[in-house]
Amino acid sequence: MSAVMMDGRAVAKVWKEKIAKQTESLISKGITPHLAVVLVGENPASQVYVRNKENACIKAGIRSTVIRLDEGCTQQALEDVVRSLNRDASVHGILVQLPLPEHLNESRVLALIDPDKDVDGFHAMNSGRLMNGQPRFVPCTPLGVMKLLEAYDIPVAGKHAVIIGRSNIVGKPMAMLLLAKDATVTICHSKTQNLPDIARQADILVAAVGRPGFVTADMVKPGATVIDVGINRVDGQIVGDVAPEVAQTAGYLTPVPGGVGQMTIAMLLANTLDAAE
Ligand code: GUN
Repeated sequence: MSAVMMDGRAVAKVWKEKIAKQTESLISKGITPHLAVVLVGENPASQVYVRNKENACIKAGIRSTVIRLDEGCTQQALEDVVRSLNRDASVHGILVQLPLPEHLNESRVLALIDPDKDVDGFHAMNSGRLMNGQPRFVPCTPLGVMKLLEAYDIPVAGKHAVIIGRSNIVGKPMAMLLLAKDATVTICHSKTQNLPDIARQADILVAAVGRPGFVTADMVKPGATVIDVGINRVDGQIVGDVAPEVAQTAGYLTPVPGGVGQMTIAMLLANTLDAAE
């Protein structure tokens, strides 16, 4: 049996078209949704992500401004930029691309972003609201995963969801979203014992480890839904955290590229439009 490939590109396209229509209608009322992206340094992956976000905004009719700061920029300079974007009434969404260079304090910067402009959903106010069951801005990657599960009618309630990875960007908010939909959730991480045994119990297995081919077929229950959040560069190719052989065991599988990554961008546009509205 071969897994159904979950076409993130196609699902994201439907979202992007809907967002473009809503953006047009908002612009006709005199409001142009505007996303400001702050990029510090020369991280090659971040450069690509930011360019993709910028292009997606332009296609949807959303205004985007990228503020580029030198690798060696000071904490003060970065915070000044965020403060000025907070004050700028023409800016609806603010995103500080992560990771920041080592010398900068990431949590202090994220805490400074106006929670009403925090389209990444990384501010403690927004992560707290997600945890309380009163979400406002939800992190784009896990939100995109939920929309992809919905698009493929994958049942979540009562199912065992196993998440590999406990980051603030993916693992933790993913757990909250799946829990809110009544899944039984297990979070695994680098110190987890018997990880393959736990992964094998999953009806929905989310891999967000950042290690190419980490999830192998022996870690997957036959017929399970496997969500590959990994974006790894190997010999110039983009590969996920899930080994290709898993396609023979899983029931549903997200490809890399063309799976979750596309949904992340669509959700960023959705959050920006929401902020402008
Ligand atoms: N770096 C990797 N993923 C993300 C994301 O979703 N948002 C931001 N700001 N930085 C990232």
